[in-house]
Amino acid sequence: HLSILELAPAPRSRVVVTAGPTEEHIDVVRFLTNRSTGKMGYCLAAAAAALGHEVTLVSGPVDREAPLDVKLVRVSSARDMLLAVQTAVTGADVLIMAAAVADYTYQDTQARKIKKAGDSLTLNLTRTIDILATISASPTRPKLVGGFAAESHDVIEYALGKLERKGLDFIVANDISGSDRGFGSDHNEVAVLARGGNGDVVQTDVSFARKMTVAAHIFDAAIHVSPGVSS
Ligand code: CTP
Ligand code: CA
Repeated sequence: HLSILELAPAPRSRVVVTAGPTEEHIDVVRFLTNRSTGKMGYCLAAAAAALGHEVTLVSGPVDREAPLDVKLVRVSSARDMLLAVQTAVTGADVLIMAAAVADYTYQDTQARKIKKAGDSLTLNLTRTIDILATISASPTRPKLVGGFAAESHDVIEYALGKLERKGLDFIVANDISGSDRGFGSDHNEVAVLARGGNGDVVQTDVSFARKMTVAAHIFDAAIHVSPGVSS
């Protein structure tokens, strides 16, 4: 059956989605990254565009084409992603951060390949800026700001903490402990924790399904908590 979303000729919102990992470079040939493949974020961008929204996707390095009707901005490091998101959210209604942003970076990137010497090597890493928390607290904050919490244990508890700490309207609690979901998989199963008008947190469970289906449900659940954003 068709949902009301598909029937209503809704006005377009401006939506910014982030996806993929970041790369923090150590020297010309080496970098720190993670297992994110960008699939969930690309599906979210595609789902929002299919609903008729104007979508910018800020993506870390992944081997994927831009979804239909999505403006793709490619970035590498957490720092690059912060700058690209800051630009993209100007005038935007919604920010959804699905990217797996590096928590630490190497600030002393070498222009030449580091040669091995000695029996051990110590890399001193520095905390990156929290993009979500920064945008959420900024004067250009979109009306609806949300992120993902990829957790291997105590999923809901950690996700609620991030919802609070980062000042979000919603967070997608993503249990990555199973091999059939999360990173790299075509499927996912999540819970959307959204702050309702009265401040209460409303939980919407999105059952195991293809990431494109999960994305549509996430977008639907998230957008309904914000009276200022049209679906
Ligand atoms: N995030 C961000 N900037 C960072 C780190 C994370 O914007 N420097 C965003 C992610 O895109 C995600 C959300 O914050 O939407 C939660 O990321 P996660 O890694 O689960 O949480 P952290 O706050 O980094 O905490 P930890 O990794 O210690 O669990
Ligand atoms: Ca993190």
